[in-house]
Amino acid sequence: MIERGLLKSYKVLPLSVERGDGVHIHDAEGKRYLDLYAGHAVASTGHCHPRVVKAIQDQVAKLMFYSNVADSKIRTEAAGRLMSFAPAGFTRALFANSGAEANENALKMARRHTGRANIVAMTGGFHGRTAGAVSVTGIEKYRAAAAPNVPGASFVPFGDLSALSAAVTDETAAVLLEPIQSMAGVKTAPPGYFGGLRELCTKKGALLIYDEVQTGIGRTGTMFFAGRDGVTPDLVTLAKGIASGIPLSAVLVRDVVADRITYGEYGATFGAGPVAMAAMKATLEVIDSEKLLANATAVGEYARRRLSAVAGVKEFRGIGLLIGLKTDVDAGKLQLDLLQRGFVVGTADEPGVLRLLPPLTLQKEHVDAFADILAPSIEASQRG
Ligand SMILES: Cc1ncc(COP(=O)(O)O)c(C=O)c1O
Repeated sequence: MIERGLLKSYKVLPLSVERGDGVHIHDAEGKRYLDLYAGHAVASTGHCHPRVVKAIQDQVAKLMFYSNVADSKIRTEAAGRLMSFAPAGFTRALFANSGAEANENALKMARRHTGRANIVAMTGGFHGRTAGAVSVTGIEKYRAAAAPNVPGASFVPFGDLSALSAAVTDETAAVLLEPIQSMAGVKTAPPGYFGGLRELCTKKGALLIYDEVQTGIGRTGTMFFAGRDGVTPDLVTLAKGIASGIPLSAVLVRDVVADRITYGEYGATFGAGPVAMAAMKATLEVIDSEKLLANATAVGEYARRRLSAVAGVKEFRGIGLLIGLKTDVDAGKLQLDLLQRGFVVGTADEPGVLRLLPPLTLQKEHVDAFADILAPSIEASQRG
């Protein structure tokens, strides 16, 4: 159905969401669904977490908006909280409103910092739909839809250090990648890849940018992927789960880069707005106090064991609660069958791959409920 007033954007599921609580959403008829997708990985603390709701309500009643032109306590506190989780060498962040916008800013920072134009990105990588972000997206159909693209991008296969080594030159401003390629089908890199990547960037004087729009804010069981394997990038972009659903994104900027940035170079009217910052602060506090990083690791491992054993699942991919399930049935068909059975899942660019990006509050019993339904659903999708 096409609603009057709405331009076509994402293909709409046969689901009209009325409300959400925790790991569940409810449709207009009162049917309850287990939400294993979290609205594109956004509802990190679950839907309408009471602490996040209260923080937003309190802030809305006090001050709904004032821009960065004035100081504000909630902004400073929230930014400080975020940076307390950042790797050593990071003390400052720029705030914007979407993942694409965070990536646009990161690309600009890399080009300005190095005085170079070229960006090496990965085949299969997804970075957003705005002009700059789509031009470094390694999935052709998105780039083609936005042609002509911003010049300067080249692409190498994800996980291939020798291809990268050939592509990165003295004119490379940055290497940009998703540490786990989500949209491409939840693809992980081989051991040693990130260390090699860091070494190469340092040697060539290029910045290393992690697009952590999906992997950030606890999804893989650590607050950020940055820091894993002892590797720290220069810029980290975040969005999605950062404020539990209030639009917000960030670029974490390594001090050596941040030190050279002056007033007026970067900004956005709505960036770091007080309501979004209150939501982020509460989100980070909930992740901390409810030990959701440990939960994402434990439940992710449990899901690996349970779901790998389900008939029809050919491959389990991912880390923590960024999960890809490869089956040999059409993922779109399976998604619709699961929806009818009360489970919301995502698909990927790779046919046959389902993506699970649930709230970080997911429990083992929810995995059990999904595991029990998955085999019959795969079977039904094979038949139908
Ligand atoms: C890895 C990654 N980067 C960037 C984006 C773009 O984020 P947004 O839709 O908030 O612009 C997405 C969105 O799915 C993403 O998955």
